[in-house]
Amino acid sequence: VDLFVRGSGGNKTTKMMYGIMHEDINNSGDGGIYAELIQNRAFQASEQFPVSLNAWSAVNGAKLSVKQLDKPLSVALPNSLNVVPGSKKSGFANEGYWGMDVKVQKYTGSFYVKGSYSGRFTASLQSNLTGETFGSVDIVSRSVANEWVQHEFTLVPKKAAPNSNNTFAITFDASGVKQGSLDFNLISLFPPTYKNRPNGLRIDLMEAIAELNPKFFRLPGGNMLEGLTTKSWWKWNETIGPLKDRPGVAGVWNYQLTTGLGLVEYMQWCDDLNLEPIVAIWSGLALDGNFISEADLEPYVQSALDEIEFLTGDVHTKWGAVRASLGYPKPWKVNYVEIGNEDWLAGRPTGYDSYKQYRFKRFFDAFQKKYPKIQLIASPSVFDDMVIPVPAAGDMHPYLTPDGFIEAFSKFDHLTKDNLTLIGEYAAVHPNGGIDWSGDLQPWPWWGGAVSEAIFLIGAERNSDRVIGATYAPGLRNLNRWQWSITLMQHAADPALTTKSVSWYIMHLFGKHLITETLPVNANFGPLYYVAGKSDKGTTIVKGAVYNTTVPVPVSLQLEGYDKGDKATLTVLTGPADPYAYNDPWKQNNVVKETTTTLQAGKDGTFSFTLPQLSVAVLETERS
Ligand code: AHR
Repeated sequence: VDLFVRGSGGNKTTKMMYGIMHEDINNSGDGGIYAELIQNRAFQASEQFPVSLNAWSAVNGAKLSVKQLDKPLSVALPNSLNVVPGSKKSGFANEGYWGMDVKVQKYTGSFYVKGSYSGRFTASLQSNLTGETFGSVDIVSRSVANEWVQHEFTLVPKKAAPNSNNTFAITFDASGVKQGSLDFNLISLFPPTYKNRPNGLRIDLMEAIAELNPKFFRLPGGNMLEGLTTKSWWKWNETIGPLKDRPGVAGVWNYQLTTGLGLVEYMQWCDDLNLEPIVAIWSGLALDGNFISEADLEPYVQSALDEIEFLTGDVHTKWGAVRASLGYPKPWKVNYVEIGNEDWLAGRPTGYDSYKQYRFKRFFDAFQKKYPKIQLIASPSVFDDMVIPVPAAGDMHPYLTPDGFIEAFSKFDHLTKDNLTLIGEYAAVHPNGGIDWSGDLQPWPWWGGAVSEAIFLIGAERNSDRVIGATYAPGLRNLNRWQWSITLMQHAADPALTTKSVSWYIMHLFGKHLITETLPVNANFGPLYYVAGKSDKGTTIVKGAVYNTTVPVPVSLQLEGYDKGDKATLTVLTGPADPYAYNDPWKQNNVVKETTTTLQAGKDGTFSFTLPQLSVAVLETERS
C-alpha cells in the first residue's frame, strides 16, 4: 500500500480523543476501584436488596443480628449490627469482597459503636484458612450507653499474607459489656489509596488507568445512572457528604451500592488524572421502562441544575455553599453535561418518544438558559433516529462484532459539523457470526476484536473535529462477579490478578500518540486502515491497522515535508495466530506483542515497513 500524507490541510481535532467511563457493574466500584475492604459495611438495603448479614460472621461464639434501633446511627443508615458477646474475647469478622489483600502497609479503619463498654477492642487481619494473625491493634473503648461513638485506628500488619483469603475482625471482652450487647455500624477499612485520598481509590487500578493517558471521564456512565425504577436512580445529592449520611442505592447490576464512591469522589478522580468531566445527569428514564411525565418533570430538571451548581457554583450560591460546607470550597469546572443514558433503549418506543418529545428539550432549554457555555450531549446519537438540536451533541454506544466495527469505519465520514458525537461506550463483544445479544459473548476481550476496535477508532480519529472522544465500556470487572464479561480490565482482591485486556493495549498505544490536527492521506482503505495527523509537538503521527488479509501488507509511507534520513519510531502490536486469543486473568498471560523500531526515511521522506494480518501500528516522527 502506498500512502502519501500531506503536510497540512486537515482539521483541528478534539483535545480529548480517549477517555474512560465508570459505573458500578461487576463490582467494579464497591469491591473494585473504590478501595474500601469491608463488604456490607453499613448494612445498607433497599426494596430490591433486603438487609442481610452477607460477608459477616461471628467470632468465638458471639451472636450477630441486624437491627433497626430507635436511635440509629443516622437517617441514612438505619440498620446496624447487634453483637451479643460469647464467653471469651469474641466479636465479628468480615470476609471483604471475596477476600482482602494483606501487606505490610498502613490500613486506616473506623467503626461506630453504641453501648456501654469498658475495655479494648481489637481490630485484626487474619488468614481465613489457617487463622494466622498478620496484624492487630488494640483500641481503647470510648463507647457509652445510648450514643454512637466513632472509633478510629490504624493497623500495620507485621507480615504479608501469602494469599487474599483473609478476613478483618473486631473482638472485645464480654466482661466489659454493661448491657448484654453492643451495636456497631459503618465498619470501614482502607489500604493506602491513590494519591492518599481518604475514602479513596485502589492504587493498582488507578495506575493502570493513568497509563492510558485518558483525557475525559464520563461519570457516572451506563445503566447505573438510570436506576431500576424511577425511584432508584443515582441521586447525586445522596452520594455526597459524610459516609454516615449516604443511604446507598439499589444497583442495577444485582447488588446494593454503598455510594461511598460518589459524585465528589468522581470529581477527585478527575482531578487526580487531570480528566475533563462529562457529567451525566438523570433524564427521567428508568431501566424498567418507566419515565417521568411532562407534568412531573420540573423537580428533576431543577435537581440537574442543582447538581451543576453544587459542582461549579461559588460559595455564595445555595449548592456551592453546600459543597464548601463539605470541605470543598473551590468549585470544579464542568464543560460537558450528558442528559441521560441510552434513552433510546429502555421502555422503547414510549420511553424514547418521551425523550424526543419533551424530556430532552426540558433539560436542554434549562441548561441553555442557566449554563449556555456547557456542551450538552444527548444520550442517543444522530445514528439513533433523533434530530439533536444544535449545539447539542449525541452519544453512541457501539457493542459490535469485529466485522461490525469494520463496517462502522466510515460512519463518521458522514457527520456534519452540527453532528458532534461522543463515543460514550464501545467494545467488540460478539465474534463474527454471533450477530446480536442472543449470540455468544466472548469470555474476555480477544485480539481480533481489539484490532477491529482499533479500526473503528481510526475511523473516528479521521473525523475527530466532529468526535468529542471515545471510551471503552465497561472499564472494570471483579472476577468474582459476572454481569458483563467483556471489560477493559479485570481485578480481584489479590492485585496479582489485575489484568489489562488486549483492548487496553490498543487504547494505551493510541492514547500515547495523540493527534491534534489531522492530515490528508491519499489511498484506499482495506486491508490497511489508517489516519494521519500532527501531535501538539508538531511531530507527524500515522496510525494503522490491518484486518482481513492472507498476506502481510508492505507499506510505503511518504510524509510531505520530510526528507531522506529523517527518523521515526514504529510501534507495532500483534497477537498470536489464533484471533480469539485473549489475556486470561487466571493465567496472567499477555498475548499482545509490542515491537518498537526506529526507521529511517528513504527518498522523499518515505518510510517502508510491512504489517501482518491483525496488527495495529503507530508511526511517529522524531522531528516536527
Ligand atoms: O457497559 C454496559 C452497559 O451497556 C451500560 O450500562 C449501558 O449503558 C450499555 O447498554
